[in-house]
This record gives sequence, C-alpha cells and structure tokens, in this order.
Amino acid sequence: MNSHAETIARIRKDLGERLVIMGHHYQSDSVIRHVDLKGDSLELARKVESVKAEHIVFCGVYFMGESAALLARQGQKVYLPEEDANCVMSQMAPAARVDKVLRHLAGSGRTVVPLTYVNSSVGVKAVCGKHGGSVCTSANAETMMRWAMERGDAVLFIPDKNLGRNTANRLGIPESAWHMLNIRQDGDAVDTDAAARARLLLWPGLCAIHARFNLRQIETARQEHPGVRVVVHPECAPEVVAASDAAGSTSFIINYVREAPEGSAVAIGTEINLVERLAQEYRGRKTVVPLLESACSHMASVTEEKLAITLQDVANGTAEEVRAPIGFADHARLALTRMLEACA
Ligand code: 13P
Ligand code: SF4
Repeated sequence: MNSHAETIARIRKDLGERLVIMGHHYQSDSVIRHVDLKGDSLELARKVESVKAEHIVFCGVYFMGESAALLARQGQKVYLPEEDANCVMSQMAPAARVDKVLRHLAGSGRTVVPLTYVNSSVGVKAVCGKHGGSVCTSANAETMMRWAMERGDAVLFIPDKNLGRNTANRLGIPESAWHMLNIRQDGDAVDTDAAARARLLLWPGLCAIHARFNLRQIETARQEHPGVRVVVHPECAPEVVAASDAAGSTSFIINYVREAPEGSAVAIGTEINLVERLAQEYRGRKTVVPLLESACSHMASVTEEKLAITLQDVANGTAEEVRAPIGFADHARLALTRMLEACA
C-alpha cells in the first residue's frame, strides 16, 4: 500500500460511518478502489438521498459534487478532492444567457419547457426549475424529454446537442421539428422564426471527449474484430450512435459488457478509464477494446493524493465544503427533485 492509500485507510477507520466516499465510473483505478458508492450520474444522485453519513467526499467533476450538495440532508457536508475539476460541457451554457433565451422564446406566446442535462451549472438548473423545467441524465433522457414535451409546446434542451438529438431520435421526434439555436456572443441569440416552429430547441454544446468518436473507428473495430458489438455513450454524435449496436449511460455500458457472451468482443466509445477497467476485468473471457483512447482530463484531475489530502482536511475540520450559491439553491433543487420524482 502506498502512503496515500495508507492515509485514506487510516482516516476511513477513524471516521467510520461518519464518512462516505462516492465516485463516478470515469475515476481512475487508484481512486475508484477507495470508493464506497459508485455509479452513473443518475445512480449517484439517487444514492445521495440514502446516505446518512455526515461527510460525503465526492470523486468526480464539480457539477456532480454540487448536485450532491443540493440533494444532501441538512447538516451533511459534501467535499470534492479537486474543486477545479470542471466538466467543460457544463460551462457551455451560461445561466444568464439561458434565462435570456427563455424569456425571448416566451415572447412567441408558446410554452417552452427547459430541460437541462445534469452536466450543467447550478445556475442553469435554477433557471430550469424557475421556468417549470427539470434535469435529466444520460440514463433517463427519454423519460425526461417526454415529461417536458407533455408540459408545453416545445422543449429547450441544454447544453448537449448530441444527447438532445439522440434522445429525440429514440422518441421519434423528426428532425424537421428540431432547431439548433444560434447562440451568438453578443446578444439575444434566437432565430425566432425557425425557433417559433420547432418542438425541440437545442443548445449547441457538446462533450469534446465524446465528439472524438467517429464512423471510421467503428468500421475499423468491425474489421479487426468480426462480430464485435459496439456500444457508445449518447454524448457521441447521432451518426456514431446510429452505427453502433447500443448506446447508454456509463452504467448501461458496464451492464452491456457484463451481458455480452463469453468469448465475444465489445468495442466501446466512452472515456478511457472506464473502458480500460472493463478490459482488465474481463481479460481472458471477453475482448473489450476502446474505439479510441479518449480521456477526460477533468475527471483525471482527481487523484489518490488529493483524496488523501481532502480526507485529512475533513478529519481536521478544515476541508472546504461544496455549497450551492444561496440565490440558486432552491430552484436548482426543485429541478433535480422533479427529475427524481418523475423517475422514481
Ligand atoms: P453518465 O451519467 O452516463 O455516467 O455520464 C456522465 C458523463 O459525464 C459522461 O460524459
Ligand atoms: Fe464532462 Fe465530457 Fe468529462 Fe463527461 S467526459 S465529465 S461530459 S467533459
């Protein structure tokens, strides 16, 4: 055991049931081995509600810790080993701009229900909560898009255009009913004529890590591993999802590999830490390969050393808590709660 692992083990023992370490599937092996509760974004959000420990150390990117802080009980404290671990996609939709676009769209006289991917800031979640909208994750995007469609004339999906389009495809919402918003640097940003007709308005954000997967990689995998099953995350472009055998959240991908027959091959289009862990777990029984080695440096900025330091700070009472800004917390929590209730 290295010295960070020893520190972590010692503090866990000292704090006992007062501490829970949570972590996302994209965390590195050296971090994930210390995690008590792991999962995809939806599972982690659900698990927070059942955690009784006073201290929750969350190994993941900022929006995940922030969502945990919003859902935590009173008196419970949430900490991130690396507060600068920021999902870049979550920063592609500034809350003030989303609010402005929604107010602009309301001028058309239609009810536009905002639905934000959980990979977004607390400000965007609050704007969605305030305008009657909610949150979704990659695991429940279909349920939540249907939920939002039932409540208005159109849905504004923020910030991931790929998850938005892939979900619309699954629900059979034709492309002719979509409109990609033209969010300009300077202004009101909405092409109102086209926007006024669309049932699905898409914010033009994406995940750079998943945007790297393409059709050529899928073709190569199919040539190199005849009979291979291809599974990707729905943050990939729609043509990549269409050319794959399945698409779903990180936990869906884990289950997909688990259920693949012994001796078969699976090629995966998602963050490399998870793919390598699966390849290791099934070595000798199933061939698990990445479509491309695509790493999320933000997830990787959480390290075993930082986890050890954070736990030391928690034990000393000097760790800095994640706190949702007061002006946003209530509406953001409302948006998250709507999702958890709709998907109970
Ligand atoms: P999941 O909710 O599927 O775990 O995905 C989170 C994420 O950030 C994917 O890039
Ligand atoms: Fe964000 Fe993409 Fe990293 Fe997921 S993989 S946390 S969407 S930057």
